[in-house]
Amino acid sequence: MTKRLEKKSALVIGAARGIGAGIVARFIAEGAQVVLADTELAAGQATAQRLGASFIETNIAHARDVDAAVAHTVEQFGGLDILVQNAGIYPWTLIEDIDLEEWDRVMAVNLRGTFLAARSALAVMKQKNYGRMVFTSSITGPRVTSPGHGHYSASKAGINGFIKAAALEFASYGITVNGVEPGNVLTEAITEHRSQAFIKGMEDSIPLGRLGTPADIANAVLFLSSDEASYITGTTIIVDGGQTLPEGKDFRIRPE
Ligand SMILES: NC(=O)c1ccc[n+]([C@@H]2O[C@H](COP(=O)([O-])OP(=O)(O)OC[C@H]3O[C@@H](n4cnc5c(N)ncnc54)[C@H](O)[C@@H]3O)[C@@H](O)[C@H]2O)c1
Repeated sequence: MTKRLEKKSALVIGAARGIGAGIVARFIAEGAQVVLADTELAAGQATAQRLGASFIETNIAHARDVDAAVAHTVEQFGGLDILVQNAGIYPWTLIEDIDLEEWDRVMAVNLRGTFLAARSALAVMKQKNYGRMVFTSSITGPRVTSPGHGHYSASKAGINGFIKAAALEFASYGITVNGVEPGNVLTEAITEHRSQAFIKGMEDSIPLGRLGTPADIANAVLFLSSDEASYITGTTIIVDGGQTLPEGKDFRIRPE
């Protein structure tokens, strides 16, 4: 480790488990002081304690919670240098069956949450004329999609549009705004709820031959959060093992 985030304070939202927990672990290994925010009290506290972060219970869909999480980070560490909004929900429902409540819930967490986090962090970051914002988008929506992901795809494509607009508006405050687009990542949720056959099928569709890990995504988030990425803003990094590259189903160089 190179202590790339030494003396930096970070707020990572949606990090009790999965990709977010991987981001917190990587940030702490690189010397950052981290607040972990999540709706899940017990799991969030346990992960924060295990990794050495401070925890705050936060529902990203609610403005007052987001403001409280930002204020908590400033109180704990004297400022906020890095914001990561990673919380996202992904119910599987065909468009004809999505009711208004479900559509609004997905938008409230994935898209409104992104806006609320950016707005709240901006107020603090602009005082120091420094900031890094990183949002977890997805290849699903911006690049590809599959049945059952109408609301999810719309929300993630919306995040990419928001990243560009925020990057432009915040540039004069020394704040960069970027995102990551994970492919299929092997999190606890996938290991617990999906069969080995499902996972093998996914692996076969990925040129690099394996699913991603939370650490793969965390490494890209770390780069965008570091000073090395100071001239990068308004963009996303696809971290998908090449999954979105093939034109056709069989991409082997020597198909039988
Ligand atoms: N796992 C993948 O393959 C994959 C692929 C592409 C994109 N993503 C995106 O990566 C992010 C993390 O995914 P994951 O697979 O680790 O998910 P996960 O469900 O394992 O973890 C998500 C975390 O966010 C928290 N959360 C949910 N709603 C919240 C809210 N309203 N406020 C605060 N916290 C909330 C959950 O409690 C959980 O700790 C999501 O935005 C997801 O859309 C995941």
